[in-house]
Amino acid sequence: MRIGSLKLESNLFLSPLAGYTNLPFRLVVRELGGVGLCTTDLVNARSLLEKNPKALKLIETRPADSPLAVQLFGSVPEEMRDAAQVLESLGTHSIDINMGCPVRKVCKVGGGSAMMTELEKTSALVRGMVAAVKIPVTAKMRLGWDDENLTAPDLARALEDAGVAAIFVHGRTREQGFGGTVNLAGIRKVVEAVKTIPIIGNGDITTPQAAKKMFDDTGCAGVSVGRGAFYDPWIFRRTLQYLNHPNEGLPSEPSFSERVRVMVRHLDLMIEVFGEPHGCRMFRKVAPWYARRFGPCHEFNKHVVKISSRAEFVDDNGELLPRFQPPPMVASFMRDEPAVAQRENIPVPKGPVEVW
Ligand SMILES: Cc1cc2nc3c(=O)[nH]c(=O)nc-3n(C[C@H](O)[C@H](O)[C@H](O)COP(=O)(O)O)c2cc1C
Repeated sequence: MRIGSLKLESNLFLSPLAGYTNLPFRLVVRELGGVGLCTTDLVNARSLLEKNPKALKLIETRPADSPLAVQLFGSVPEEMRDAAQVLESLGTHSIDINMGCPVRKVCKVGGGSAMMTELEKTSALVRGMVAAVKIPVTAKMRLGWDDENLTAPDLARALEDAGVAAIFVHGRTREQGFGGTVNLAGIRKVVEAVKTIPIIGNGDITTPQAAKKMFDDTGCAGVSVGRGAFYDPWIFRRTLQYLNHPNEGLPSEPSFSERVRVMVRHLDLMIEVFGEPHGCRMFRKVAPWYARRFGPCHEFNKHVVKISSRAEFVDDNGELLPRFQPPPMVASFMRDEPAVAQRENIPVPKGPVEVW
């Protein structure tokens, strides 16, 4: 797949998730394979030009974190243009413009979703950026402001004329926020609205089958995964395998020990990039995502939100300390086994027996 001059190894993308898609997570995803392009969290163009340390931290990267797109937001054309040039000079491979963020802080200054409502102004801003750099400039948008204003097809056409190399479409309106159903027919309309540039569909891709349906129903050229990648960082590799060999069925899920290995790798990268105390604090919100797939994880989560150092979590061999390990499952008739008492602490669902 190509985005302008940039050649990608797959048509699967990591969506920007502010606060999550930092360098450690991007490296984890890349090490597991299958992803074609990762994007940073959104970065304020003005902050970048002012060399604000927080903005600089957001664009921190390494050779292994490649190819990388940086997502910019802002509404002042000169600032967006200059920030694009700074990024190009730093070796960024592609620049994405945020036009979909519904957050007040971003819309208030005319960025994010607010850009979807002002077609001409937005086109002019994009033209200025495209003319200022050689690397591809892309845009990420929602379907529109609300159901009465599904502006994405018109905006996509205008942005194609303005020179963007690809468009990412989150199949929800600004009004929907992050809830409600992703509108695949709406994404299809955007695919049909443009002439040549690739449209990348986004929203609620949590399994390889969902990615396939996104491709099949919308005709999109690529699929971008956000929260689904946090839930399952293996999703890119498994999806690629599933799309390339559909007759072989779904690739198997990673084992428990593989999940632990990757989780600990994520912690180590957090510590490398942010230092131990801050890295551990950030890891507190990451670990529960891995634990969702561990089975009952209340005890794990209770302890992990308190860690301040690596040694409080794993031993020297990278093995989870006992309090983070799931208790062995023992049948109720093995009453003399101590683990029975622990098993009985696992809450069972309340509700009608016949639907369990
Ligand atoms: C916590 C969070 C942070 C996000 N941050 C950004 C962002 O910085 N830039 C952006 O364009 N979209 C952002 N999004 C939107 C996602 O990129 C994506 O479009 C949306 O979550 C739908 O995809 P998903 O269902 O795969 O997560 C964010 C979403 C969430 C939940």
